[in-house]
Amino acid sequence: MSEILSREPSELTQEVRVRRLAYSDLPAVIAIERRSFPTPWSLAMFVLELSKPSGLCLAASVGDELVGYVICSRYDQVWHLMNIAVAPESRRAGVAGALIRRLFEEARGVLPFTLEVRVSNHGAIGMYERFGFRSAGVRPRYYHDNGEDALIMWLD
Ligand SMILES: CC(C)(COP(=O)(O)OP(=O)(O)OC[C@H]1O[C@@H](n2cnc3c(N)ncnc32)[C@H](O)[C@@H]1OP(=O)(O)O)[C@@H](O)C(=O)NCCC(=O)NCCS
Repeated sequence: MSEILSREPSELTQEVRVRRLAYSDLPAVIAIERRSFPTPWSLAMFVLELSKPSGLCLAASVGDELVGYVICSRYDQVWHLMNIAVAPESRRAGVAGALIRRLFEEARGVLPFTLEVRVSNHGAIGMYERFGFRSAGVRPRYYHDNGEDALIMWLD
């Protein structure tokens, strides 16, 4: 996962709805992904995650428009938050917060969550801390594009 684009808080005039992500959402997901990350996931990576029966993949929409998504995989006894992004024009309006709250509801709070985030992605790190994640070390040179370290975060 990668860096955040800083913007002024946006205003969403309609309600944000959170639901399961579908294969038919993937073109809109890819469009947001490419605007959000320097090394975006490929379509095949999203298809693979959606095909895992134990995964939790959620979409946030406003009206008919997809504005964000979260991809979470279960590995043994841990949830791994793999990817989360919100369309740049819809940021700072609570979309990621709505996705993460729903993720916690659907995961039913039994198992811990973990994730990796670029050490430079201060906005995302602040967001995760706000939801109770705490840092638990660094994976040196985890990101191949620029050799950046990953901060490992956990929520028990
Ligand atoms: C990180 C990201 C998903 C946040 O989505 P969002 O919908 O804007 O987040 P929310 O509006 O729900 O924000 C929830 C809280 O997180 C924190 N936060 C979110 N963005 C922040 C930023 N740029 N700077 C500082 N804090 C931030 C704030 O505490 C915020 O609450 P507030 O707006 O009431 O202060 C979004 O900025 C994004 O898609 N970034 C690019 C992709 C990315 O970096 N993903 C994370 C990879 S690890």
